[in-house]
Amino acid sequence: MKIFNAAVHFFYKHITKRILFLINPEIVHARATAIGKSLGQSPLAKKILALAFSRKNLALSQTIFGISFFSPIGLAAGFDYKAELTQILPALGFGFGSIGTLTNQACQGNFGPMLGRLPRSKSLMVNKGFKNSGVEATLQTLQNKSFAYPVGVSIGKTNTAGIKTQQEAVNDVALGFIKAEASGVPFAYYELNISCPNLMGSIEFYQPTHLEELLAAVQSLNMLRPIFIKMPITKTDQEVIKMMDVIIKYSCIKAVIFGNLQNNRQNPVLQSDEVKKFPVGNFSGLPCQQRSDELIALVFKKYGTRIKIIGCGGVFCTSDAYRKIKLGAHLVQLITGLVYEGPQLVSQINDELALMLSKDGYQNISQAVGIEA
Ligand SMILES: Cc1cc2nc3c(=O)[nH]c(=O)nc-3n(C[C@H](O)[C@H](O)[C@H](O)COP(=O)(O)O)c2cc1C
Repeated sequence: MKIFNAAVHFFYKHITKRILFLINPEIVHARATAIGKSLGQSPLAKKILALAFSRKNLALSQTIFGISFFSPIGLAAGFDYKAELTQILPALGFGFGSIGTLTNQACQGNFGPMLGRLPRSKSLMVNKGFKNSGVEATLQTLQNKSFAYPVGVSIGKTNTAGIKTQQEAVNDVALGFIKAEASGVPFAYYELNISCPNLMGSIEFYQPTHLEELLAAVQSLNMLRPIFIKMPITKTDQEVIKMMDVIIKYSCIKAVIFGNLQNNRQNPVLQSDEVKKFPVGNFSGLPCQQRSDELIALVFKKYGTRIKIIGCGGVFCTSDAYRKIKLGAHLVQLITGLVYEGPQLVSQINDELALMLSKDGYQNISQAVGIEA
């Protein structure tokens, strides 16, 4: 199967990607998710893909927050914002996946372009601004569905100039959760996205008092599903620690995700000629990698077992994922790696991670968490 993955990788890198990268990325994304959706509706296609890409390995499976993850590699929020891929991604080896970010009210998103490519920076420009049909309408499409892996719902503040005060923003996010709870869809966890850098207005939840107000409101909803907070990577260590000191007071928050997009256009990994093509938006992929790693290590060292960490940002290969795990992450998410490396990436990481763990003398991935923090 190593050979099969290598062949798919070769074909993707040298043929498919070259063709796809000639086409508008928003069109490619729409087509790719449409294909993924229809494959997910075919039991035969799912079986064939699972045979090719999804090998369960006990060394990779963990039960965390009462949820079973057969692989530590998941899809980060943003790629499947219409909730169309939940039926197909487990067959590609994904161990979990987040839908959204969804908001209380439907959002048109920002003015385009919403998506761009920076191939030499190994990055994507993202300026989606929470384009989505709203929590209710999106989750309606998952009625009567069951899931072969843990599905998460990412919730954020509606991206509208109509929300003017912190209190209105808190109420809006709380309503998003209330609607998701009422949906009856058997998803496994929530993400609370407080760190999207593409939103209009000046509302933010980074100041400890603002974060406190938001988390108090969310905690008061008494939801049973665990909540993971999607954190920014653009704050200083001190600012992150101040936020963490608030977060660990709230028992509903079970994990922090490090983290969201890079908004620093001077990031050394970003090639300036590529950045100049995009006057708007923020950046995924390689420009997120180092800060994500640093914050995983920082929070693991300071908070240890008091909260779990999910690593996200710039995972393109097995060693990128393993490094985040060894720095303190129990789980890892990705999007950009899939676009640059191909649909076999997660399967490849799963296979290679199992080998690396055994070479390092670990029986289960949880034993490697934080050993290099
Ligand atoms: C096209 C795209 C859309 C995204 N939209 C969201 C979103 O709606 N909510 C969110 O929490 N993060 C969003 N993100 C950020 C990703 O979840 C992730 O944090 C970031 O891209 C770093 O991971 P990566 O380097 O593996 O892509 C988006 C990223 C991309 C590439």
